Amino acid sequence: MKKFLVTGGAGFIGSNIVNSLLEQGAKVSVIDNESSDAHEEFFWNKEAQNYHLDVTDYEKTRELYENTDFVIHTAAEARIQPAIINPLLAVKSNVLGTATVLQCSREAKVSRVIYSSSSSGYGKNLTPNSEDQADDCLNPYSVSKIAGEKLCAMYSELFGLETVVFRYFNVYGKNQPLKGVYAPVIGIFLRQFLSGEPLTIVGDGTKKRDFTNVEDVVRANLLACRDELEDYKFGTTINIGTGSNYSINEIAQMISSHTVYVPDRIGEAKETKANISKAKKVLGWEPTVHLNDYLKNELIKINLLAKSK
Ligand SMILES: NC(=O)c1ccc[n+]([C@@H]2O[C@H](COP(=O)([O-])OP(=O)(O)OC[C@H]3O[C@@H](n4cnc5c(N)ncnc54)[C@H](O)[C@@H]3O)[C@@H](O)[C@H]2O)c1
Repeated sequence: MKKFLVTGGAGFIGSNIVNSLLEQGAKVSVIDNESSDAHEEFFWNKEAQNYHLDVTDYEKTRELYENTDFVIHTAAEARIQPAIINPLLAVKSNVLGTATVLQCSREAKVSRVIYSSSSSGYGKNLTPNSEDQADDCLNPYSVSKIAGEKLCAMYSELFGLETVVFRYFNVYGKNQPLKGVYAPVIGIFLRQFLSGEPLTIVGDGTKKRDFTNVEDVVRANLLACRDELEDYKFGTTINIGTGSNYSINEIAQMISSHTVYVPDRIGEAKETKANISKAKKVLGWEPTVHLNDYLKNELIKINLLAKSK
């Protein structure tokens, strides 16, 4: 039986990965320090071996990597605006955190590390974003995530540690963050719609994002743990997105006409959209969930809930 260690496994993406691995009968350990303030509750799965620890704590975590086949590293300060407010924490969790995960993995002879990076590394590049575009980091979050990518590439080159680097494009779905003003837009809009509040559109609502369902992100992580990856150089980035995008105004229109505009935020790109041909080739991966269908289902659930009250 393969053994997995999932960092950040009590958070949004990590918990979905943990649940899926456990459903498939894998042995799973989780490290999370519950530092994200984007969740009302964390998503620990009791079937896993759970450790409330900081990934930067080399002394306390290093033994947890022993006898592990795959490390799936999702732990991070995962949002742009909190990282602009507190760059030092973001750099500590995301850069020192990733360095510690890689070093512990190397020492424990882990077979492969899968790293969750971010489309924010594309900055102001023109879309569609492909992996050969130059990095353009507009904020501390993006710098810290791309530094993590470079550490992965270096550990693969210098130490022969197999790393797979994913750049996710705006992820939404089950267990998504709902709390506070900096939660991702899909979660905030659904929360606001549910409680009868206006949807808060940041800036003029014309920023466009490629929205990716967490189920598809989980599948990419599982595929990355297969022995054979087609024509892949370890440590290089792979986009995980859908190849289409929507403006924030368009998302709001799919949910409610009750909207209000709030001031724009610094440090955020105008548009993202993934070129996903590398993911198709290396992993045989394609997105399967469409945002439109997801939102329709969520709105049906919310309306049914309202009627039952
Ligand atoms: N959600 C997205 O749209 C998105 C897009 C691109 C990349 N990513 C990346 O995916 C990963 C997961 O993001 P998410 O949306 O699930 O965020 P999340 O905040 O829901 O999950 C991250 C988890 O990591 C934990 N954590 C943070 N710092 C830690 C530390 N130092 N030690 C131990 N645990 C720590 C948090 O408590 C949280 O449970 C992150 O690396 C993020 O940068 C996310």
